[in-house]
Amino acid sequence: MIVAETIADVKKYVKEWKKNGETIGLVPTMGYLHEGHASLIKKAREQNDRVVVSDFVNPTQFGPNEDLEQYPRDFEADKKLCAGLGADLIFHPTPEEMYGKDHFTKVHVDTLTAGLCGAVRPVHFDGVCTVVTKLFHIAEADRAYFGQKDAQQLAVVKRMVHDLNYNIEIVGCPIVREADGLAKSSRNTYLSPEERKAAVILSASLKEGKKAIDAGEKDLKKITDIITKKLETEPLARIDYVSAVDFNLLQPKDRLDGEETLIAIAVYIGKTREIDNIIVR
Ligand code: PAJ
Repeated sequence: MIVAETIADVKKYVKEWKKNGETIGLVPTMGYLHEGHASLIKKAREQNDRVVVSDFVNPTQFGPNEDLEQYPRDFEADKKLCAGLGADLIFHPTPEEMYGKDHFTKVHVDTLTAGLCGAVRPVHFDGVCTVVTKLFHIAEADRAYFGQKDAQQLAVVKRMVHDLNYNIEIVGCPIVREADGLAKSSRNTYLSPEERKAAVILSASLKEGKKAIDAGEKDLKKITDIITKKLETEPLARIDYVSAVDFNLLQPKDRLDGEETLIAIAVYIGKTREIDNIIVR
């Protein structure tokens, strides 16, 4: 597996592959890789001749009071995991390499970024859209892989690709969970043992909502109330939002209607903000 630290280095290999008519699958990550990331890399391995994993804690998607400094990093472990999964190249640039001294351009997706996580993270999605645009171009990717874990991110990136006619296919992948249901996340390492136990309330509350849906409930207010009530049973949990939106433009909706509906939650467990979701028809 090639380890590349510069944009020029990645482009050199990509040029060679493209010359041979090979397809490239890109898996953008911020590192500290776990089985959620691994599932994306496996999918990319199945569908492409070449697999590029980017491993970059992107400073522009963190707000001033967020966890940029604290964000966990372990590049040696990441390299091993990627090599074991058959990735061809891991791209691990510094912030200076990615943004240089002069960087004036941002990619902004409107409307879809106003609610959910965008409401409390105002710069986040501009940072995500800008960095993934750069990565798409650097890797000349035919396909890029994103987890449903970050459902708003997935919808925003799909919209950007649609609106700006990027020549890339976005592949969404299901949420990988721990045995007790907690969605795998690099940020789970912030949880104390007591908080880790409490964090299961996120997936447990969504399960209650799903149970009501399976029993025929279509009123999304009733469904989000059931989820909220369950979350409120956990003393360590503080709700940021419980929302039901359409999984295209991420606008609030009242009833299940046969189109994809995203039921998304963000909950503080102690100081750690955790997210989870289900998509239902
Ligand atoms: P990161 O949080 O490292 O996640 C990288 C990718 O892995 C994202 O597409 C995310 O949705 C997916 N992922 C994380 N946990 C998952 C899980 N439990 N199951 C399935 N997929 C999971 O998301 C980012 O990085 C950044 O915003 C990035 C897109 C790399 C831009 O900097």
